[in-house]
Amino acid sequence: MPEGTTVEVRPAKGRPMLTWVGKRPLRQVTAFPAQHVESYGQAGALSAAPELWADWPAAYPRGGLLFHGDNKEVLAHLLANGFRGKVRLVYIDPPFDSGADYVRRVTLRGAQGTARFEGEGYTLGEQIQYTDIWANDNYLQFMYERLLLLRELLHDEAGIVGLQCDWRKAHHLRCLFDETFGPDNFRGEVLVRAGTKNVQSQFDEVSALATGHNSILLYSKSSDHRLPKLLERSDRFEPGKWDTFWRGTDRPTMRYELLGVMPSSGQWRWERSRAERAVQAYQAYLREYADSLTLDEYYLRTLRTTGVDLDFVRKDENGTVQYYVPPRDYRVLSNVWFDLAYRGAETGYPTEKHEQPVARLVQWLTNPGDIVLDCFIGSGTTAAVAQKLGRRWIGCDINKGAIQTTCKRLQAIIAAQAKALEAAAQPGLPLLEQEGAEAEPRPAQLSFTVYRVNDYDLQIQHNEAVNLACEHIGIARTRIDPFFEGTLGRSLVKIVPFTHPLTVADLEEIKRELSSRPEEERDVTVVCLGKELAAGAWLEEWNRLRRRTGLPNQIAVIELRTDPRYGRFFVHQPARARVTVERREGRVYVRIDDFLSPTIIERLKEQGGVLEPQIDDWRAMVDSVMIDPAHDGQVFNVALADVPERKTDLVAGEYELDAPPGETTVAVKITDMLGEEVVVTARV
Ligand SMILES: C[S@@+](CC[C@H](N)C(=O)[O-])C[C@H]1O[C@@H](n2cnc3c(N)ncnc32)[C@H](O)[C@@H]1O
Repeated sequence: MPEGTTVEVRPAKGRPMLTWVGKRPLRQVTAFPAQHVESYGQAGALSAAPELWADWPAAYPRGGLLFHGDNKEVLAHLLANGFRGKVRLVYIDPPFDSGADYVRRVTLRGAQGTARFEGEGYTLGEQIQYTDIWANDNYLQFMYERLLLLRELLHDEAGIVGLQCDWRKAHHLRCLFDETFGPDNFRGEVLVRAGTKNVQSQFDEVSALATGHNSILLYSKSSDHRLPKLLERSDRFEPGKWDTFWRGTDRPTMRYELLGVMPSSGQWRWERSRAERAVQAYQAYLREYADSLTLDEYYLRTLRTTGVDLDFVRKDENGTVQYYVPPRDYRVLSNVWFDLAYRGAETGYPTEKHEQPVARLVQWLTNPGDIVLDCFIGSGTTAAVAQKLGRRWIGCDINKGAIQTTCKRLQAIIAAQAKALEAAAQPGLPLLEQEGAEAEPRPAQLSFTVYRVNDYDLQIQHNEAVNLACEHIGIARTRIDPFFEGTLGRSLVKIVPFTHPLTVADLEEIKRELSSRPEEERDVTVVCLGKELAAGAWLEEWNRLRRRTGLPNQIAVIELRTDPRYGRFFVHQPARARVTVERREGRVYVRIDDFLSPTIIERLKEQGGVLEPQIDDWRAMVDSVMIDPAHDGQVFNVALADVPERKTDLVAGEYELDAPPGETTVAVKITDMLGEEVVVTARV
């Protein structure tokens, strides 16, 4: 494992404090380096406004950043690498502890008929994208740690986080926020629409009251942070006007001398500091802008460019103190956003949210060029919105399917933006000057880079292997035991990672665990692929002693590689491809001759029973093809991407690109419909 850096985390000190079994503070985390995996687009493209990127750590290319890994590690990595205090908006939509396995429907590509089973279109069943069945206490600890790390990444004055959740966890998450961010930093709760669910399923005694909303809890990093008004343009324009600054009620603290005047009776309308700021703002207007802009124009321009809703106070010719009632060509929105859609349908990712609520948040709470972060990125909704609205973005997900989905989505958006920019660019005119004040902001970047933190692939493979093994052997999973994965009959089950044979160290760990549970009477079954000789001797001795002294906790072993009862355990056969690469007259030609995914075939067989699946065209199994014509052996730089938008379309299979000068390594990455990747390289 690479050596890590220690990152300090400020302790939570807000009140009240929620407590749970196993609550631990998070004082520091270890940050590991990230491995650069893939790049899309031309890195640094659109650094036309370099000042936008001035705060960007030099170690990263200027562009979107997408991390594959557990967000605890990714956030620690970002903190250790120059992003502390730089993020304006965090939007997250974490798993809800909903007790559900989220699945993505996977089908083969091609028109109905490309691949068939006796007249049936193939589906590959459902692929589990992630599981969020967690014991309550684990969930709280999980979220507590993420919130503490996110707070460190937020901008000290202007940082804000929006967390989307539903009735199952909203009350706990508010408490966690109060503790980690402080109750003074609560900035409101936005209600967005959600699929209607019946609360009764969870609480049987409650009447069948369906819920149709999610909450987005908003907390700022600083308690001085005032959110701008949330405005929506309307067709009616009402000009600004001056009104008296006096109010009838009588609070002594609101009576003070302003512009040499005391309120005649009652009190001033605003607190002293706000009124004084407003006096200064009006004087600044008179000094610097009165010659060129009306007060209405000045007010609206500031509001649109910076989101700041300026107040003005003056004394009129009769000596009356007046305040400015601003012009209106907008409606002020409330926290109920039921006018927006909720379910996204761009990607087929199981929990994809609609872009509309995220876009409203981003427009309301950030300016073009600000950094927006989502460390539960899923299908990439937040990144897609940020990319479209000219913000910089950072995304992260633990699930490879999510990373692949996000890559595909962002690639398509960036390609469309690049095309539109090209079309709009007239010779001789710099792009920026062609944009009207109301135009969509120019994209902050036209590229993004994928990193992996801590080789997460291995971990995911382990989880998948564990799931498969449990299914194969008939192990009942226990979700609340942090050590044992499940039970088989009356015995506890420990699954040893399939990356190594069972060793004495693994057995010693089980021994330690058992000694911490003196009342545990059950036997243990260890599942592994095979075992080391020394482990066999250790086990014999352990079991002999137990039998002789009548102690519980005998240990049995299932060796999947050799155990006749479980002989047909799934051995993963990697997908294979035959690819021809040629170089002719300054061009590189790539042809995929064949592709085979034994896993897909296996899945189809399971579905079809005795029928042999017939796939006439290998392209039905392929989701995308990417080519890097100058591969350096480490980072995949995507120069050509073939990702058909519609499921009924197939990849082309034949490609032509400019050849780099001199001999080069061409790498071709083929991703199948289950997300498995095959990379073929050739020197030409
Ligand atoms: C509710 S989904 C987010 C959906 C997203 N808002 C969208 O519109 O597509 C939650 C995501 O969090 C990811 N996730 C769960 N645990 C994680 C962890 N520890 N680190 C990073 N991502 C995680 C899941 O893989 C899943 O994609």
